[in-house]
Amino acid sequence: MTMTAASAAPVIDALDLTKTYTIGENVVRALQGATLKIYPGDLLAIMGPSGSGKSTLMNILGCLDQPTSGTYRLDGVDVKGLKDDQLAEVRNHKIGFVFQSFNLLRRTNALNNVEQPLIYGGVNARERRTRALAALEAVGLGQRWRHAANELSGGQQQRVAIARALVSEPAIILADEPTGNLDSKSGAEIMCLFQRLNEEKGITIIFVTHDPRIAGHCRRIIRISDGKIVADEVNPSPLQACSDIPEA
Ligand SMILES: Nc1ncnc2c1ncn2[C@@H]1O[C@H](COP(=O)(O)OP(=O)(O)O)[C@@H](O)[C@H]1O
Ligand SMILES: [Mg+2]
Repeated sequence: MTMTAASAAPVIDALDLTKTYTIGENVVRALQGATLKIYPGDLLAIMGPSGSGKSTLMNILGCLDQPTSGTYRLDGVDVKGLKDDQLAEVRNHKIGFVFQSFNLLRRTNALNNVEQPLIYGGVNARERRTRALAALEAVGLGQRWRHAANELSGGQQQRVAIARALVSEPAIILADEPTGNLDSKSGAEIMCLFQRLNEEKGITIIFVTHDPRIAGHCRRIIRISDGKIVADEVNPSPLQACSDIPEA
């Protein structure tokens, strides 16, 4: 499924974002006027060296933090002035997070891990279970729902984390170095899964990474340096991760 930029409102509309951290006498201008629009169904990478402002930008786009100045609209909602609980609500409904270190409850089974966002969202137990199982099936782990996270391989744990991100049917998934802790085969499998979710369900996926292999699978690559967006390019021929998976 492909949506052209002109046919839809942006899901992310950020205008001139700045973020300044002040520690004692020290002022760090982590973002210095970042402007970007991201449209539904996009698959893109935000790349940049360490310290360039990637995490700061991701925290703002993910409603984990507010900019010092600038405007941020997420799926049409201006997040400025939202109180912490309102911000948490927007985050819970619109964004799924995937992290390098999976961030699962290690002794808890896959199903209960995936249910977590729905517990915060006040969904009843029966519906939670149905939706969590469906999300596990979507990542190919429907049979493994009873397994504790620490009984699963790294690649399987990341798939559980992706199911957890999917379960609240977010508009976007924000993934911070999602293959950083995986061997190359598991990494390719995870990228294949992200590409399938993007193509088949139209989910907008944003990677924050310094891995050029992740960027090679994206349709758009944004580069950030010293808190500024220095390039925003279309990748005319993204690689197909599903054909990169080596034989076992
Ligand atoms: N909470 C914070 N307090 C003070 N400085 C911070 C904080 N978070 C990030 N910074 C600084 O802001 C700049 C950008 O950091 P960050 O967004 O983490 O970059 P990246 O993720 O690209 O490595 C760096 O100089 C970093 O030291
Ligand atoms: Mg970072």
